[in-house]
Amino acid sequence: MHVISSQSRSVEQVLVGTPASDGAGVRLTRVLTPAYQQRLDPFLLLDEFGSDRPDDYIAGFPDHPHRGFETVTYMLQGRMRHRDSVGNEGVLGPGDVQWMTTGHGIVHSEMPEQEQGRMHGFQLWINLPAREKLCPPRYRGHTAAEIPSGQVMPGARVKVIAGEMGGMVGPIRGQGTEPVFVDIEFTVAADLCVPLPTGHNAFVYVYDGEVHAGPQQQRLRAGQLAVLDNDPQAACIDLASLGRARLLVIAGKPIGEPIVQWGPFVMNSRAEIEQAIFDYNNGTLV
Ligand code: CO
Repeated sequence: MHVISSQSRSVEQVLVGTPASDGAGVRLTRVLTPAYQQRLDPFLLLDEFGSDRPDDYIAGFPDHPHRGFETVTYMLQGRMRHRDSVGNEGVLGPGDVQWMTTGHGIVHSEMPEQEQGRMHGFQLWINLPAREKLCPPRYRGHTAAEIPSGQVMPGARVKVIAGEMGGMVGPIRGQGTEPVFVDIEFTVAADLCVPLPTGHNAFVYVYDGEVHAGPQQQRLRAGQLAVLDNDPQAACIDLASLGRARLLVIAGKPIGEPIVQWGPFVMNSRAEIEQAIFDYNNGTLV
């Protein structure tokens, strides 16, 4: 039986990802494209990479720069080695999370640490407000064991990467955008209302199975992203599964500033983008 909460946000729009290639030729699905940067402020991009074919991922992401935002990499399967201009190096394995604040500038590489087998994970880009765009770069790596997880009700397991749910607090805190990032696994039919802070822009991305979301019980299948409305009376998003399903619920406080993106740089104006390109070409980005 579904307990439909009148306090749930609704699904405003359903999006599907588009196939893309990035880095040195890694095939991925661009789930959240730049067209939604204003609507889903502070989120800039969400990529899902998932393949059993080494040709799809083996080229990796060799050295490239970033300025002006944060990246969150969440691995589900496979291993990826990160190396950056700040001196951080580490291997990201299944369930691990890397949260990088590019700030003023960072040059890094993300290369597969395997020659065969499945590689599956996500990279989310979160914008920074103007006052933090040129901060010193920061890097935080969290192993799967450091990420709180547990059953919040029979049939529903939650991993809290950022934000708070069921008494668990994610290791990522203190960001201006107060992000919520939870990974939910339904193992049987269950109905769960995931808390969302009022005013946060929010979305749900289903990557396995299917769920029904919101008071209208909107059906969402694997590969579909639901943009949620901003009903100030609603404190959560109602998610019901009929069986196995896995999904991400992501929310953040909007920044409300102009967004100008040029590839790996996200600033507030065209002039700041030109400065970033100038700095990179002159070796003063990092
Ligand atoms: Co990068």
